[in-house]
Amino acid sequence: MNTNQPIGIFDSGVGGLSVWREIAAQLPREDTLYFADQIHIPYGPRSLDQIRSFSEAITRYLIDQGCKLIVVACNTASAAALKHLRVTFPDMPFVGMEPAVKPAAEHTRTGVVGVMATPATFQGELFASVVERFANGVKLINQVCPGLVEQVEAGQLNTPDTVAMLDRFLTPIRSGGADTIVLACTHYPFVIEAIRSLAPGIGVIDPAPAIARQVKRVLSERGLLASSEQIGQHRFITSGGAAAYREIVRVLVGREIEPRGVVWSNKQGVVDV
Ligand code: DGL
Repeated sequence: MNTNQPIGIFDSGVGGLSVWREIAAQLPREDTLYFADQIHIPYGPRSLDQIRSFSEAITRYLIDQGCKLIVVACNTASAAALKHLRVTFPDMPFVGMEPAVKPAAEHTRTGVVGVMATPATFQGELFASVVERFANGVKLINQVCPGLVEQVEAGQLNTPDTVAMLDRFLTPIRSGGADTIVLACTHYPFVIEAIRSLAPGIGVIDPAPAIARQVKRVLSERGLLASSEQIGQHRFITSGGAAAYREIVRVLVGREIEPRGVVWSNKQGVVDV
């Protein structure tokens, strides 16, 4: 492993860009390779087995591309696959997403916290273990948000449909007395402004800054931080349509990209086109 290799980052789609932008801001010397598995989005309603097999194939691809660390910038894939990936690729350092129940339980005054996530995230043993370790008697209102990932993928961040959808998801959280909300899906920070205006007085936790700090810590511990002369280069890959990807990346993070396309092969997993 050498310091000039890129950081690999993956998600089912563009949600992980909420993590990518923090990594790019906190670690401006690092090259990144961002992989959006848009042909399979959404992961949330899929079985844990299927998500695990997608995650393994994407990881193999990112390792073949020379990544020095992989960020599973998807709560759903972390819930389904993080443990499996660490066992399968023992030499590769991974940073995954874990619902931010710990800071929420420390922050709440009412003792009630809303958690917004996909169905698969709530099913995984990772969520059960986070609750067991950190909820500390705090009541959690677990809210699935069907359709919200698709709205973000379509760039519908503040449209009447998205706002109405969010209002519906936030109703049980508001009426249950929560004073803190955990965004446990990496797509949701892109609608944080709409969430804040529909949930006034409720704190909203976006875990991305903490994840970027964790990436820095792991790279530093392993002597893998990029050298101080270089300016990070960023490459973007999708298994879906390149034109739509280019457009949504511009809408979400204000960046003009030249995406690279990949396809899924039954025999070989992810391959370049
Ligand atoms: N961004 C993913 C997450 O953090 C979820 C998206 C999906 O359902 O595909 O959970």
